Amino acid sequence: MKNAPLLKIEDLRTYFYSRSKQAFIRSVDGVNLEIRRGETLGVVGESGSGKSITALSVLGLISGGPGVIAGKILFGSNGEQKDLLDGLEGYVKIGREQNRIMQVSKDVLGWERRSDEVMRTIRGGEIAMIFQNPKASLNPFTPVGKQITEAIRLHTKITDAQEAAERAIYWLKRVKIDSPALRFDNYPFGLSGGMCQRAMIAMALACEPALLIADEPTTGLDATIQSKIVDLLAELKSELGTTTMLISHDISVISRLSDSVVVMYGGTVVEYGPVRDILTASISSKHPYTSALLASIPGEEHVRDKVALQAIEGDVLDTINIPAGCRFYARCNRVTPKIRENCERREPDLREIAPGHRARCWLYFD
Ligand SMILES: Nc1ncnc2c1ncn2[C@@H]1O[C@H](COP(=O)(O)OP(=O)(O)O)[C@@H](O)[C@H]1O
Ligand code: SF4
Ligand SMILES: [Mg+2]
Repeated sequence: MKNAPLLKIEDLRTYFYSRSKQAFIRSVDGVNLEIRRGETLGVVGESGSGKSITALSVLGLISGGPGVIAGKILFGSNGEQKDLLDGLEGYVKIGREQNRIMQVSKDVLGWERRSDEVMRTIRGGEIAMIFQNPKASLNPFTPVGKQITEAIRLHTKITDAQEAAERAIYWLKRVKIDSPALRFDNYPFGLSGGMCQRAMIAMALACEPALLIADEPTTGLDATIQSKIVDLLAELKSELGTTTMLISHDISVISRLSDSVVVMYGGTVVEYGPVRDILTASISSKHPYTSALLASIPGEEHVRDKVALQAIEGDVLDTINIPAGCRFYARCNRVTPKIRENCERREPDLREIAPGHRARCWLYFD
């Protein structure tokens, strides 16, 4: 149990149903990953690849609808491993054809009630979160210090109001908010975007979570503030070592803060392993999508000369019409005649290509 990963996701599938198209949007379509205690796992991929929906599925924040429909989310909670989707399968009926889910019927109310029951003690406490838009995530009608105080009283052993307020000020200091005792009484609208994000980080960490999920914590902030927030997260990582799932489309943020990386494309994991194997440009054994992502990072000369970035050619995958073969086939520039038929017709598995390094690509299998 001690060595078991804190979070292990197995074959997670979260679909939405598009009434107008009468088809499933396969937002998360077979995700496998795990996070060991003390580790920061980076999740990277273009917008629309299913990163946020994976995180929201873990948090039980996908509303009934079709929502999470299959898989396991194993979480080490109070010394035992719990499946956060436990008991939900009774509320969903799935029709499969050749391992693809073609039909879903669901008792939405029963499903939501069961999900809330499982998640009530976990969300916000054992698993805390930071989102992209901190102003929208904070309650606009309550001073930030009070919000943090309430979170502490709700999720930690500290129940005394005065003691919790002192602890909130400690956390405001810890995230380097200037004049924390004064800021305590500020409403979110009185704080800058960067300060609101610091307050959100303080609130999340003050609950002493076993797992922190940070979804695009720097996106939407000014560039200089972004780099300060990344510095803060790096500092907190080395001081606290909180197990973290860090989601970002920004490779530089992921490579600075992560120990391991998951690269997502079209709702699934295409590459997974230690950060140095995956995000170091000079290592050649990589999934073609990861190589393309790395090639799309602006170099210093691009920034200096304002040269247009080399974006990855082609459109992100339409997760309604997932092709039979490799999801990246339509945009891949590394298909060889030897593997073309496989690439076109058969989806590769996520397989180990070096110790601890997995990729979903026919280039690496016979
Ligand atoms: N409520 C929803 N209804 C229908 N489709 C959705 C919904 N939420 C997300 N999606 C779709 O799921 C896919 C994955 O979304 P998301 O996980 O937010 O991507 P990412 O975080 O990687 O940018 C996208 O194609 C998005 O349009
Ligand atoms: S399996 Fe084929 S199409 Fe897919 S990424 Fe690898 S080489 Fe490209
Ligand atoms: Mg997102």
